Formats: sequence, structure tokens, C-alpha cells
Amino acid sequence: MSDIERIGVVGGGLMGSGIAEVCAFAGRDVLVREIDTPMIDATQRRIEKSMTRAAKARDQSEAEVGEALARIGYTTDLKDMADRQLVVEAVIEAEEEKLAVFSDLDKVVVDDTAILASNTSSIPIMKLAMATGRPGQVIGIHFFNPVPRMGLVELVTSLLTNEETESRSAEFATDVLGKQVIRSQDRAGFIVNALLIPYLLSSIRMLESGFATAEHIDVGMVEGCHHPMGPLALTDLIGLDTTLAVAESLYEEFKEPLYAPPPLLSRMVEAGLLGRKSGRGFYTYDAR
Ligand SMILES: NC(=O)c1ccc[n+]([C@@H]2O[C@H](COP(=O)([O-])OP(=O)(O)OC[C@H]3O[C@@H](n4cnc5c(N)ncnc54)[C@H](O)[C@@H]3O)[C@@H](O)[C@H]2O)c1
Repeated sequence: MSDIERIGVVGGGLMGSGIAEVCAFAGRDVLVREIDTPMIDATQRRIEKSMTRAAKARDQSEAEVGEALARIGYTTDLKDMADRQLVVEAVIEAEEEKLAVFSDLDKVVVDDTAILASNTSSIPIMKLAMATGRPGQVIGIHFFNPVPRMGLVELVTSLLTNEETESRSAEFATDVLGKQVIRSQDRAGFIVNALLIPYLLSSIRMLESGFATAEHIDVGMVEGCHHPMGPLALTDLIGLDTTLAVAESLYEEFKEPLYAPPPLLSRMVEAGLLGRKSGRGFYTYDAR
């Protein structure tokens, strides 16, 4: 059984809050780092709302939710990650930001067997590993959105990830969190996004060209292919900024036109139309 009891999560957005939630429900001590107090408040509200919803679906008591919530601490200071055995980085999909986080984690995390993981969707793990003095302990643990409901984790080892880090990470994801693990080589996009992103970008190109409306594109894939949601609704759920960043990483790695972000996606991100999290993307939503 996994020996990992103290987890750090850096970045408490859509993904970081979900990762904190599943770790706390699994009985682990969790510490979330966000950039300032308002972002901590937003993270805390998101986790409380999601845990309460999940508890109802799983028939858990208020006391169980309270205990899980009490296992999550919050900080703005990365130095507080010193005693963590596993830190999952889930900051925005920007290489510079992630490199800085890994370099800083390397300086503050004391345990020299601690695992430094990234939830990146597309940035090569090797690049993040080389920002540290311990590349053997750096790995990709890629969760899916929404984390409490999605059963998959992609495990991505770099050329330098050591076997202990890989086996302890796999054990944690399966035995502690109950996720199914698939393994991918360290290439931008790994398995799922290398397949998914070209599909999402095609739907945006279809909309942009006036070929069909957003509603008809989405209904086409829901009713015609039995997908749980259409590609534009899914892009709104992922976040248009994240989708754009992942497409840019894929395009930079492979230089294939199918990964090139369509101008409409870039313009919408510039306009702050980020999807559900901003209240408007291809559709409009109640502000969270
Ligand atoms: N959105 C998805 O569907 C999805 C799915 C799988 C993986 N991912 C990946 O997860 C990561 C996070 O994505 P997200 O959707 O949660 O983004 P998000 O924009 O919802 O959250 C990112 C959070 O990181 C915080 N942040 C930025 N810099 C920070 C720092 N230095 N320290 C601490 N916090 C910092 C921001 O304040 C923000 O709250 C990205 O790498 C993304 O590619 C996203």
C-alpha cells in the first residue's frame, strides 16, 4: 500500500481543486498553494461545493465531508511544501510558470525521495525535470476534468524518471485514488490530448468557416456519435486558454497543421472568453 500521506498541490484552479478533493477524500493530508488570498478563497469555495455535490451522489454524511475538508490546508507560500512526499503541480499551462514552480520546489521540498509531479496536458516532462536537480523524481501524473468523476490518469515518465518514482506514482493513482492508469511516452499531448485536440480544433474551424452553428456541431456529435457532450461544449469545459496552450505546445513539438490553433480560438482567448470558468465561451453560463 502507498506510503504517501502528505500531498502538495500547486495551483488550485479547475484541476488543482479536483486533485486536492480526491486526495482528501482518500484520507490524505493535502496542502494547496495559490498565488494570493482571493484565489485561495475561490479554491476553497470550489472544493466545498464540489465535495458537497460528490457526497450527495455517494451518500456520504456531512461529517465525512467535514473531515475531508479539514484535511486540506491552504497557503500562498511555496516554502510550506517542505514536508510533502508528493507534490502535484497544476498551475496554468505556461512553460515559464511551470519551470519556475519546479525550480522552486526543488529548493524547498526536503524529502529526497519526494515525487514532483506535473498535471500538464502537453509540456514535455523532460523540460520540467531539467529545471530541478532531481530529474529522476519528476513525472507526469495527468488527471482528467472533472477529477472526482473521471477515472483515468496518464502516467508520463521522462527519459530520466526513475523506477521507484514511476511505481510509487502508479500505486498512488490506482490504490489510493482508484484511478485507471495508462502510460504514455513523453511527447507533447501524451495519448489523450494528441487525439482530442485536433478534433476540438476541427470543430472550431468548422464554426469559424460558417459551415454549421455551434449547436448543430455539438448535437451532431452527441446524437450522431453518442459522445456525452459536443466538441465546443467540451472546449468550454476544458477552458479556451488551456485548449489554446495545449494546441500551441503540440504545434511546437510536431509542426503539423492539424495542431495549429484557429484564429477564432486565439481571438476568443484574447477577449477573455475562456468558457465556463469566465461565464462565456462558445456558450454562456451562470458566473461561478
Ligand atoms: N482544464 C482541463 O480540462 C485540464 C485537464 C487536464 C489537465 N489540465 C492541466 O492542468 C493544469 C491546470 O489547468 P486548470 O484547467 O486547472 O487551469 P486554471 O486556470 O483553472 O487554474 C490554474 C491555477 O493556477 C494558479 N497559479 C498560477 N501560477 C501559480 C503559481 N506559481 N503557484 C500557484 N498557483 C498558481 C492560478 O491562480 C489558477 O488558479 C494545466 O497544466 C492544464 O493543462 C487541464
